[in-house]
Amino acid sequence: MADQDEQTPLGAGPPMLPSLRWDEPPEGPEGPVVVLLDQTRLPGEEVELVCTDVPALVRAIRTLAVRGAPLLGVAGGYGVALAAVRGYDVEEAAALLAGARPTAVNLGYGVHRVAEVYRAAVRGGADTGAAAALAEARALHQEDVEASRQMAVRGLELLDELLPGGGHRILTHCNTGALVSAGEGTAFAVALAAHRAGSLRRLWVDETRPLLQGARLTAYEAARNGMAYTLLTDNAAGSLFAAGEVDAVLIGADRIAADGSVANKVGSYPLAVLAKYHHVPFVVVAPTTTVDLSTPDGASIEVEQRAGGEVTECGGVPVAPLGTQAYNPAFDVTPPELVTAVVTESGIASPVTRDALTALCDRSRQVTIS
Ligand code: MRU
Repeated sequence: MADQDEQTPLGAGPPMLPSLRWDEPPEGPEGPVVVLLDQTRLPGEEVELVCTDVPALVRAIRTLAVRGAPLLGVAGGYGVALAAVRGYDVEEAAALLAGARPTAVNLGYGVHRVAEVYRAAVRGGADTGAAAALAEARALHQEDVEASRQMAVRGLELLDELLPGGGHRILTHCNTGALVSAGEGTAFAVALAAHRAGSLRRLWVDETRPLLQGARLTAYEAARNGMAYTLLTDNAAGSLFAAGEVDAVLIGADRIAADGSVANKVGSYPLAVLAKYHHVPFVVVAPTTTVDLSTPDGASIEVEQRAGGEVTECGGVPVAPLGTQAYNPAFDVTPPELVTAVVTESGIASPVTRDALTALCDRSRQVTIS
């Protein structure tokens, strides 16, 4: 493409700090803690945020210090374990955590899964249920790492099938890498696998207004991994498609309803419409824990509305007249007919139908249980 200021890939940086970890300092009165890489400070500073109690973790979730659907599930699970281990009211903690953000179904999944194990242990006569809760949170953490790995393998196979010959130019939106997961992420993990296989020509990174998860976080991860990437404003995507510069769109999801409707970061739906018009595959990569068969359709997904200040300001600097009202849904919903495929750890749904999603969830449960 002419006149395009393509960014030169940076060399691979040192390994990133883990997005989230459970820590038990050996000495001192601190006790176990949940440690997060504070995503509000990236890319400028790599700072860990130590949560010693559940309200601190809830604050971190609300302010997006920890974010992204799969990681919210892991955070929710460890939050319940933290309450159990420290002797707080687990039911109160579970309610607080599950209600911290409404759209990513993984948060409720992680909270309820660990809380259920805690309750069963208490019913079964365990002292506090704390050990069982922590073991379950750790299991969930490990499953998320493994799910990332599987999604990357399956997603790369699909890309190579859809786009034979390599040289993929992939457009992505928001942030779906190691910062949203205990592993390497969802959609970004597929792009990273393509990069490692030598088949990624360019990763187009939408900046993702208003909070710039693309510019701040995806660009940070792409640079750390030495990937060839270029940042664009969200509204430049149309001309990029028109110029024939996009071979596929890869995005993540915060909730996938039973009919295959996909809630993801606001700005995903317009990309799906563009992709359809330009005959470009639109692929969603998400673990089966993001598929919510109890939400029947897209209209039933609760979309988080966030503060208008995120739109009227940019990086804390006002960009609109004082008193301007803003429309600020955090997510939008893409109908299944615009989605080429949903890639999960247990397989691929294409076309995206209720039956296909149900089969993938059933398969994943079998693998987890066995
Ligand atoms: O509001 P956020 O930053 O928590 O949004 C979640 C997201 O990062 C995206 O919607 C993402 O594509 C889904 S999570 C892998």
